Amino acid sequence: MCYPTWRVLVISVMNILGIETSCDETSAAVVSGGRQVLSSVVRSQVELHGAYGGVVPEIAARSHVEALPSVIEKAVKDSNVGWDGIDAVSVTYGPGLASSLLVGLSAAKALSMRLRKPFCAINHIEAHIYSVFLGENAPQFESVCPFISLVVSGGHTSLHRVDGVGRYTLLGQTMDDAAGEAFDKGANLLGLGYPGGPAIDKAGANGKTDFVRFPIGRQKCSNKVFAGLDPKLCFSFSGLKTALRYYLDRNPTGGDKANIASIAASYQEAIVDALLARCRTAIRKKACLSVSGGVSLNSRLRVRLQELAEELRIRLLLAEPKYCADNAAMVAGLAGAGGGIWGDEAMNLDVEPSLSLGFLADSLNA
Ligand code: KG4
Ligand code: ZN
Repeated sequence: MCYPTWRVLVISVMNILGIETSCDETSAAVVSGGRQVLSSVVRSQVELHGAYGGVVPEIAARSHVEALPSVIEKAVKDSNVGWDGIDAVSVTYGPGLASSLLVGLSAAKALSMRLRKPFCAINHIEAHIYSVFLGENAPQFESVCPFISLVVSGGHTSLHRVDGVGRYTLLGQTMDDAAGEAFDKGANLLGLGYPGGPAIDKAGANGKTDFVRFPIGRQKCSNKVFAGLDPKLCFSFSGLKTALRYYLDRNPTGGDKANIASIAASYQEAIVDALLARCRTAIRKKACLSVSGGVSLNSRLRVRLQELAEELRIRLLLAEPKYCADNAAMVAGLAGAGGGIWGDEAMNLDVEPSLSLGFLADSLNA
């Protein structure tokens, strides 16, 4: 999709209110001109879901209903532009949990009608891709195109070739669990609590990365939906989690901290190895790689990506830590860059829990 220049010019001077409720963070933000974050409020539900070892959709949706009004009020207040200064309303409409998405989408539509301001619906994966362009020191989106994007989060693990705002080619994605899910399930098996990514990151910091040789998932892409994708660019993490379970059955840790640290470090290394191998294959002649999503907070992944970028002499774009996990600034930012679906078409949209992004690549040369 290519947007007319007038549309991008008009939108790029707007103060846009963004709303994000696709999973378990209730977030609102105001972003000016697609890059300048005037306010960003993120209310996490981690404590509510921790006891269950994962996100409980009913609890998430109810909590969004309770938190969203005050989160939006705070974002508008913190932005110092006031309600009169809001030029448009944007919101995530998919992918994500249906009941959680519905809360944000309904609120955003109502606000847009009440304020009589334009309305924009945003794809959550596209917003994660855009997150590396937030902040006045970040590069301009179009200046680094085409580039390869890796989105790694609790719900998604996908590689895209990006040719511009709204122009994406899907190169590969996970066939089963997302990388964040692998962290969360692994941490659960190791008794490290929820969310698992930060827990494994912390526990593994002093462990030996070669203590256990976990397998890097092999991909078959046998599923018809993914038939067009190159197996060398797809991911699989469910076998890794099973390997950890079998390992722990045979080698109980007995709560030994040094032992747990090294198992966590080895498990993390296997996930990072899998992510880097696909990035290495995808980059080929492209000069720039962006990595975003909650898992991009992982300290070992960030170090290994930096090494890869130096080795391949490519530019590496990482989102600022505050924009890695789910947040509404990336939603408002992308809308301000001319992305998303606008107007009546957006108003008529329902939530799309399984929304995907981009055309399928025919081959690695796509
Ligand atoms: O982007 P995000 O907030 O939500 C989704 O769109 O899914 O990502 C959440 C995921 C969780 O699985 C969490 O365990 C993971 O990001 N995560 C991490 C780290 N911090 C958060 N994974 C690895 N290392 C971290 N430091
Ligand atoms: Zn996300």
